[in-house]
Amino acid sequence: MNVGVLTGGGDCPGLNAVIRAVVKRGMQLGLEFTGIRDGWKGLVEPSTTKLTNEAVSGILPVGGTILGTSRTNPLKNPKDTETVINNVKALGLDAIVCIGGDDTLGVAAKLFERGIKTIGVPKTIDNDLSGTDFTFGFDTAVSIVTWALDRLHSTTESHQRVMVVEVMGRHAGWIAVYGGIAGGADVILIPEKPFDVDEVCAHVLNRKKRGKKFSLVVAAEGASPKEAHGAITKDKELDAFGHVKLGGIGEFLAGEIEKRTKLETRHVVLGHLQRGGTPTAYDRILATRFGVKAAEMISEGRFGRMVALQGNRIVDVGLDEATSKLKTVDMEMYRTAEIFFG
Ligand code: F6P
Repeated sequence: MNVGVLTGGGDCPGLNAVIRAVVKRGMQLGLEFTGIRDGWKGLVEPSTTKLTNEAVSGILPVGGTILGTSRTNPLKNPKDTETVINNVKALGLDAIVCIGGDDTLGVAAKLFERGIKTIGVPKTIDNDLSGTDFTFGFDTAVSIVTWALDRLHSTTESHQRVMVVEVMGRHAGWIAVYGGIAGGADVILIPEKPFDVDEVCAHVLNRKKRGKKFSLVVAAEGASPKEAHGAITKDKELDAFGHVKLGGIGEFLAGEIEKRTKLETRHVVLGHLQRGGTPTAYDRILATRFGVKAAEMISEGRFGRMVALQGNRIVDVGLDEATSKLKTVDMEMYRTAEIFFG
């Protein structure tokens, strides 16, 4: 069986660990592998590479993806969808392991309905895919946010300032909540809960009562101030999956906090630092377990499904279940974070 492997959407620490595990386990099971370059783009304009034990050796700790990635959406144009289906046949691919977030796996679900044997592996630093407790890449992103908050803590305290830290999280605030709790944030703002700027200022001013002289505010990029009626965006342009480019909440909020509280305020945008570089040990292990399971599912003919973590067990769920709705922040977790606000 010749199995295609592709990585789509934003890159994420642990992608190479999945590729390595799929290939190593799959070869033990008698499968052959073809790497598809740059996500779905490599099937619209065919671009592939042979994946052997040798090709995947040494990539476990390497960030990014050896296959390249893109946000190409072959469902946007029916002609591209047909091209992909024809190219899968022309390249002799019997099945495809699709490593991606809701966009990439949404395409995998639709292609499965069209007769292509797809298997999904849940990737995103945002941790917003349903059906799995965690996606790989999230733990690395949280570690980087925690590291950044620890460093910002000392400079913010020395100057008795307010520091607003903008983190990733388009529709879900998982990174903000986990990173914020681990780094001791005084306020955490997430897309799931539109916020009132005056309330944030009240939390910041409340620090005096708590005997504190500085404040760390963590805002997910998708967090929306009620007065702005939506998230702050960089421009109006949409990508192939209809997403707008977010960014600017940190700068906006820092300006408003300084104006309204008269406290000296700075902001930092962590941006792609959260996505680059080597995965944590946790993500390497999760990605490896996901990859092994994906290879075994191919061998067992379990297509149209996504590998998933439930509790500490690796299971599989339907691709349609995983992609039909986003997994937003658990409000019980947010309430734990709120105990430390102010
Ligand atoms: O989907 C993951 C993610 O990192 C989001 O948190 C963020 O909004 C987006 O990707 C950024 O995408 P790009 O790298 O294309 O700017």
